[in-house]
Amino acid sequence: MNLSLDEKLELLSGKGFWRTKSFDGKIKHLVLSDGPHGLRKQVEGANNNSAEPAICYPTASALACTFDPGIVGRIGDELGKETKEKGVSVLLGPGTNMKRSPLCGRNFEYFSEDPYLAGCIGTSFIRGVQQNSVGTSLKHFACNSQETHRMRTNSIIDERTLREIYLKAFEIIVKNARPTTLMASYNLVNGYYSTENKWLLTDVLRDEWGFDGLVMSDWGACSELTKSVKAGMDLEMPDSHGVHKAALKKDLEAGLITEEEIDRAVNRLLALIDRCGTTDEEEAKHIIPTKEEYREREETKRRHRLAYEAAANAGVLLKNEGTLPLKGDEKILIIGDLAVKTRFQGGGSSHINAVEYPNVLDCMKAEFANVDFAKGYDSLRYDFDENMEAEALEKAENCDLILYCGGLTDLAEGEGYDRTTLLMPENQIHLIQKLVSLDKKIVFLSFGGAPFVMEGLERFDAVLQMYLGGEAVAEAAVALLTGRENPSGHLAETWPLHIEDTPAKNFGSREFSVPYEEGLFIGYRHYVSKMIPVQFPFGYGLSYTDYEYSNLHVAKEENGYNVCFEVKNIGNRVGKTVPQLYVRNAMGDFKRASLELRGFEKVSLNPGEKKEICMKLTTDAFQIYDVNVHDWVIPEGEYGICIGKSVEEIELSETVFVNGIKDLHLTDPLPVETPNDGPRFTVTSSIAELAEYSDLAKQILEQGIAAMRTRFPDKTDEDPEVKMMLEAFKDGTADSAVLFSGGEIPYQTLLAILDEANANYPA
Ligand code: BGC
Repeated sequence: MNLSLDEKLELLSGKGFWRTKSFDGKIKHLVLSDGPHGLRKQVEGANNNSAEPAICYPTASALACTFDPGIVGRIGDELGKETKEKGVSVLLGPGTNMKRSPLCGRNFEYFSEDPYLAGCIGTSFIRGVQQNSVGTSLKHFACNSQETHRMRTNSIIDERTLREIYLKAFEIIVKNARPTTLMASYNLVNGYYSTENKWLLTDVLRDEWGFDGLVMSDWGACSELTKSVKAGMDLEMPDSHGVHKAALKKDLEAGLITEEEIDRAVNRLLALIDRCGTTDEEEAKHIIPTKEEYREREETKRRHRLAYEAAANAGVLLKNEGTLPLKGDEKILIIGDLAVKTRFQGGGSSHINAVEYPNVLDCMKAEFANVDFAKGYDSLRYDFDENMEAEALEKAENCDLILYCGGLTDLAEGEGYDRTTLLMPENQIHLIQKLVSLDKKIVFLSFGGAPFVMEGLERFDAVLQMYLGGEAVAEAAVALLTGRENPSGHLAETWPLHIEDTPAKNFGSREFSVPYEEGLFIGYRHYVSKMIPVQFPFGYGLSYTDYEYSNLHVAKEENGYNVCFEVKNIGNRVGKTVPQLYVRNAMGDFKRASLELRGFEKVSLNPGEKKEICMKLTTDAFQIYDVNVHDWVIPEGEYGICIGKSVEEIELSETVFVNGIKDLHLTDPLPVETPNDGPRFTVTSSIAELAEYSDLAKQILEQGIAAMRTRFPDKTDEDPEVKMMLEAFKDGTADSAVLFSGGEIPYQTLLAILDEANANYPA
């Protein structure tokens, strides 16, 4: 392609929010849309939540609970088809960051605390999408584990923890699914912005893992194109209105970057455009349907059924003392605002404009004759309402069973901010404390993107956790409650008992640097190795039938072991179970989790049926990353091959002796931070921190907040969409705040602010 130098420089920044440049049709362009669990195709300039109508599948935290790469692949396939139909080139997802803490506001968009599970689920997702000749963007690479301060936080992590935990799921997916693109995250990793991190983007991603696709920035994550392109990033998103291009051009003239380096990025972009780019004419063929038109389409109905199937596979039965499945003749009182405003997705860039999302109350009424309802609490508030509570308590007098619908509300979690507590919203705690004192059966139908402390758990007769299970979550929940579907979801993350028990003690820190002091020990690796009791362990999930595991055989093979065993359905219902293969590690003079997930399978069984399951265990299952030699090694010793129903319920085990390195000694110190000897404030400082030392920044902060508020006249500051925008403006980099203003704040103003703030900062 014959592009001038100027065009090449232009091409490295997007056009508007969602496209790349085409130079008036000279080349095709890319259309990029969020992701991940549906398609959020947004008209340029529109508010976040007003995209084209689309199907909303279960969010990642729910999808992972299916432990079923098969259904995830089918969802990927339908998503890929919808991406294609809507004229989109790249679906921005999936997200596969590790859940360092249950409090991360965006955990609902991530699969798991375990890299192997996240890697397997993510691989199927991407293969499914990409078989439709459209691309994906695996995100947020890397170590984007908190939302607080998300555009400027510096994740300090030792290399072994990076390799074994935070990069591992990315590695599995890159090698097995070959995503067309990766999205470099906002944060820094060990002192370098991900978008400027050569070690991450070139040495590891490309040279070691063989990634040959494109790396784009997260939206507003690139503030110096020269550094980014040199590090291995190829496309900055969104448009930086010529500002970053001008700087790049100057750097090129000054010899700070070469034309070859620019060509390298341009060629990767052109290759992607060749693979899934589009033209204005092709785009124009796509007519945006009305909600009604969209709802009536055959494929919409088919996809809704798939969303239902996935949600039914994802729902996790956490407790059941015989109350479920419901018998059908109970007088049921449904309590809780979430029965009406049933949460099926989270807030932020993944918000899907779904058209068909029945709520729990309607689905229950369609199923049962004897159903009453009391709101009990307001999901858009934290304070309790005496009248609502009184109504619920009064109505409860006459019922046989309370179906309490609650959990995390929209206020509690979302993109751009973290939760500050593991507890449920206060008004729900207040109400539950009253409900549990009644002499009634209580079934808790639970929603939310992440674990929380279940108030009243010991008094509940049953608990069904649906996460944020997509648009058909209510239908699936009711089918599970009635027994039309048999629960088969298993937890893809641990539910801790107290926040004090969680491993990441400095989680959500607003300090610039966040040392990951707990290292390898996140999720079950922490709880199991240190024997800390939890509410529910990783891998846990009940069923309306029961399964028996027997006959474990471990046979040595050339590159590992063949692990076979039998699973029998010993109840009287058809069901699916998830046998999990854990390796009990050999220990030595190094830190290591006692057990690690190395295999799983979702198995469907008729009553009385028995199946033999075989899983291949390759030798990488025993490896650890040796930072002395910068390579993977196997510590020699005795390893346990364990088959469990969860990480805490090991049913079968056998010991094998694995040859490897004897007497391995490893220490994993956190990297030492390099002191910043430049000016105190730079373009990556936030407007909020600049405002403390610059009147001009203060003025812009106030005006920006006011302007943003006028865009959402009907919403409060606590609304997830508003909260995300405000956080990004106040706490993101000043560079992105200025560029996102689309010219309202001239770049020169930012430079003047920096001069003023640096001059006022005490020496
Ligand atoms: C999010 C990404 C998203 C992008 C575009 C960013 O703020 O972190 O996940 O894809 O916006 O909406």
